[in-house]
Amino acid sequence: MEFWRGSVFYEIYMKSFQDSNGDGLGDFKGLTSRLDYLADLGIDGIWLTPFYPSQQVDNGYDVSDYCEINPDYGNMTDFREFMKAADARGIKVIIDLVLNHSSTEHAWFKESRMNKTNPKRDYYIWREKPNNWESFFGGSAWELDELTGEYYYHSFAKEQADLNWANQAVQAEMEQVLAFWLNEGVAGFRLDVINNLTLVLEFPDNPVVEGEMEHVYDRNQRGLEQALEHIATFCRKEREVFLVGEISSDKLPEIAKYSSKKMLDVTFNFNFGSVEQIDAKSVFTSLNEMETELQEGQWPTLFFGSHDMSRYTTRLADGNLIKTKLLAFLMLTAKGVPFIYYGEEMGMPDLTFSSVEEMRDIQGTAAYYQALQRGKAETQALESAIEKTRDKARGPMVFPDGKPFTSGEPWIKTASLQEKEALSMWHFYKELLTFRKEQDFKDKEYTSLKLDGEILSYQRGKILFLLHFGEGEVVYPFRGQGRLVFGEADMLETGIKIGAHAGIALRVED
Ligand code: GLC
Repeated sequence: MEFWRGSVFYEIYMKSFQDSNGDGLGDFKGLTSRLDYLADLGIDGIWLTPFYPSQQVDNGYDVSDYCEINPDYGNMTDFREFMKAADARGIKVIIDLVLNHSSTEHAWFKESRMNKTNPKRDYYIWREKPNNWESFFGGSAWELDELTGEYYYHSFAKEQADLNWANQAVQAEMEQVLAFWLNEGVAGFRLDVINNLTLVLEFPDNPVVEGEMEHVYDRNQRGLEQALEHIATFCRKEREVFLVGEISSDKLPEIAKYSSKKMLDVTFNFNFGSVEQIDAKSVFTSLNEMETELQEGQWPTLFFGSHDMSRYTTRLADGNLIKTKLLAFLMLTAKGVPFIYYGEEMGMPDLTFSSVEEMRDIQGTAAYYQALQRGKAETQALESAIEKTRDKARGPMVFPDGKPFTSGEPWIKTASLQEKEALSMWHFYKELLTFRKEQDFKDKEYTSLKLDGEILSYQRGKILFLLHFGEGEVVYPFRGQGRLVFGEADMLETGIKIGAHAGIALRVED
């Protein structure tokens, strides 16, 4: 079985995890010092957000050198020590690769913009006139460059120029990048906005519906499958390499198209990631959809949070840790590959903001200035910035052994955590991860998947999971032979009495 099918990944947002030198920014030495913590928690793999040299316009997703370490985070020696220490603990490391665009500070772009005949001109997408395409951060996706009087395309910030994947030379450069990191021992890659790689090169205007432009011709275009196959074949020449793709969609059939033995192993499934509300019925519908839309061998990913969205204890559980635990239980017991976002195991909530100066994320600050430009009042502009800013989920990690590091960045504030509750959350994650390792369900298909009122149930191997999403106690009419192996419940003659928002596991006999 491929290693990732039984693995639980843990996403680390570099800046905010662990500082080692008191500059207020997380770094590799700090990270290495926390590997024992992660091994003890029981995770199997780490996903590191970008750690490359960058102007930090989009927190590292604007890469100016793909084969170097940002000095804020250390150097290549620190990286290698981290990799060795992770390996010694049996932890695999996957890294974030931003193949779709580079920073405009990248040497390739600097050359590309020099003149129209520069050999690197075609590494990026230049046009005499813009079309109506908009950036995913708002505003036109085209920027006029005075030097040559042409526009370059940027699907995100104007400091993130899109690479031209129709150019073989770009593909060849990126192969070298992949080879470089594979040689450093990474177990795989998380491929950033990978469905933006190919475009309709005639650049037709995108449709506009009720004043909103729809992203149609600027993603999921012809040639994407071939590009992914090419990347995958290159990576897997010598060994198993785990490839997870970020496809910006919450439509399963769309996402699933790109996951196969020849392409990506898994694609991020935003079914849970982007939902604003959750209950037994919606989870049941989602799990069913995963069963029907995915083919044999295709596995969903399971996550509620990441560096791009509000933390799930705030978004989906109103900060209630009992409800949060039930969602963690779902994420770690349903069929799929779970991705824990750092700090979830401590019940970390969203950060709050009272002014735009406290924000760093371009998605928040751009929303603020765009609102002002549209004539909105300051308070309204701030409201939309607060809604959009992803900084809310990027606060400093709080470890069970004590305090978060003090940060030089004014926007990093300590998340307000109740110490006792945070510790109980951490124990819960640890127990659940241990339980997952001990049991034999992790690679098992569902043999049943049901909804009875507020109780969602699924069986995998010999383990039957019951998840109660409602308030109060309920009795689930279970009549078979079973032994409670996780969680708390009363085994009655008439069934199993389960408390509010509780998740339990039973080992059932045939
Ligand atoms: C992905 C990243 C996000 C970034 C964007 C552009 O969606 O997760 O943080 O802003 O790509 O690189």
